[in-house]
This record gives sequence, C-alpha cells and structure tokens, in this order.
Amino acid sequence: MHNSQKTIKKEKILTGDRATGQLHLGHFVGSLQQRVELQHDYEQTVLVADLQGLTDNGHNPHKVSSNILNVVADYLAVGIEPEKTTICLQSAIPALSELTMYYSNLVSVARLQRNPTVKSEVSAKSFGRSIPTGFLTYPISQAADITAFRATLIPVGEDQLPMIEQTNEIVRKLNHIAQDDILVECRPLLSKVSRLPSADGKSKMSKSLGNCIFLSSSEKEISKAVKSMYTDPNHLNIEDPGQINGNVVFTYLDAFHSDSVYVDELKGRYQTGGLGDGATKKILEECLQSILKPIRERREMFMSDKAQLIDILRAGSQKAEEESNQVLNRVKCAFGLNLFN
Ligand code: TRP
Repeated sequence: MHNSQKTIKKEKILTGDRATGQLHLGHFVGSLQQRVELQHDYEQTVLVADLQGLTDNGHNPHKVSSNILNVVADYLAVGIEPEKTTICLQSAIPALSELTMYYSNLVSVARLQRNPTVKSEVSAKSFGRSIPTGFLTYPISQAADITAFRATLIPVGEDQLPMIEQTNEIVRKLNHIAQDDILVECRPLLSKVSRLPSADGKSKMSKSLGNCIFLSSSEKEISKAVKSMYTDPNHLNIEDPGQINGNVVFTYLDAFHSDSVYVDELKGRYQTGGLGDGATKKILEECLQSILKPIRERREMFMSDKAQLIDILRAGSQKAEEESNQVLNRVKCAFGLNLFN
C-alpha cells in the first residue's frame, strides 16, 4: 500500500553504496529491492559514496571514479526512480566533508579502533600499521551523511550496525553541546537477507573477493555461476536424501524465488531423495535469468546515455546540497562558528 497521498511528513531514509564496483545480487536482495519499495512511502535519499570508496583506494582512485556511473545505472535499472528518490554523489556535497571535520573533534581514535566493522575490515585488508586516516575515520563521515539529511531510518546489513551506533553517539554529543536537538538519532532497518553466500558457499558475495553475479552479468556468466554452485557433497545419487543446510542452491531459491510454497515443496523432495542437483540448479537458473534479463537490458540502455546519468546525479546532488547546508549551519552555530551569519 502506497501512502503518498498522505499529508503528514514522510520519514527520511538514507542508504548508500561505496562506488568501488558494479552492484551484484547480494546488493539486490540485501538492499536494492527494499529501496524500490521504500521510495513510495518514505522520503528516500541514496548516496553514491565515492569519498568513502576512496578511503581504502587512495592510491587507486580510478577504481572509484570509473564506477560512479555504473552504480547510478544499477540503481535505475532495478527501478529506483529519480523522481521519487534523491540520488546524489558524496563528493559533490561539500557539507558532508565539513560535517565530518566538525564531528571528528567529538570522537576519539580509540573509539574508532573499537568499531567492530572497522576492526574486522582493517585486519582483512592487512593494512598493518598503515591504516589510512580516512579509513579509520569513515564511520564519522558516515555519521555526517546520515545526519546531514536528517535521516531517521537506515536500511542496512548487520555489518553496518556499529556505524548507526557511532552516529547516534555523535548526535547525542552534538545536541548536548548545542543544548538543543539540532540533530536527530537514527535507527536501522535490517534487511531480510543480509549475507548472500558466494557460489562456493565459503564466503559472502563480495566485489573484493571476485565471486559475484553482477546485475550486468551475461546469460552465460549466470549459467556458469549456477552450475558451479555448492550443494550437498554427499548427495551423489538422485535417490539419495540431500541436505538443505549450507546448500547454496536452496539459499538462493529462498532469496530469489517468488513462490516460497513451491520452494518448500522442492526442499521436501530433496530431503527425502528423488530430486537431483541438476534439476534444482535448472530451476534456480531459470529464476535468476528471468530476474536479471530485464535489469541487464535496462542497465545497458542507461549506460548508453552517460549524459543523462550525469544530469540525474547532478540534480539529486544539488537538492541534497541544499538540505545538508541547513544542518551544517546549525552545527557551526553549535560550535559558535557563525560570525558571518
Ligand atoms: N558504508 C556503506 C557501505 O559500505 C556505504 C554508506 C556510506 C552508507 N554512507 C552511508 C550507508 C550512509 C548508509 C548510510 O555499503
């Protein structure tokens, strides 16, 4: 049910993606589908986080700059509508960087080092003692993003919960300094599927691990990925009973198939014996092909008109800039830095 006719002010939602690669099926089930739904009932902003993308790619900026329009095309291809959702570019909104500067005075280095997501990313990326300052402080920049748009609902995967917590700490500190509620606290909206496994089932689908089915993947690539999917290694003959747990084909059927009753029926047949991996993979492949074909085609259409993508991003960024400047002004006032006002 859409309630766009209601006159009450809609709640504000912010989500974002690092512009470090094309978006994939993990993004699709984890957040993109949800954004397409939410845009009708909420005031939604989606941020192409190019600055955050740079925090671990400072020496390889092309990885970020070359993916900005890819991400915008991915958004449009799945059905995020620029008329309903403000699509904007982080680096085009100076207030976000300025707010980061102000907030950074309220957050200790030790607090950043304790952030569980930053901690695990730091060890995974093996920075050693050379953690870029920007990387360590990206939770502050993310707090700037969230507060700048006065967003109260943040659709995220579990790994982003520590960012929400840090954001709310900053909000409380700032409001205390201002002696006024100039910033608003936010809460997470957890997605149903927050970790889609890769085809081998060993890790989550991730651009950095190179195990993705992208929204742009060709029919052949999708077919190859499904055929290589990890199932139950002990399910050797079709008649044998098979395991559902850890069976990537069923995890995907749960995530993507529209008919859950049918999927449950398949699970039953697989568990008692009599349903082969070839058959389940065929069903999954058909399902993924039918979801991704129209998305891939729309994506190609959008990518063929880069000027249009840039116009959409520019218009969204201008709107976002106006909004965020208002919050920046209040924050500057809170610190007494409003001599020219
Ligand atoms: N950290 C998010 C990610 O890695 C991207 C992001 C940047 C974001 N700013 C945000 C998400 C603000 C939600 C709100 O995907």
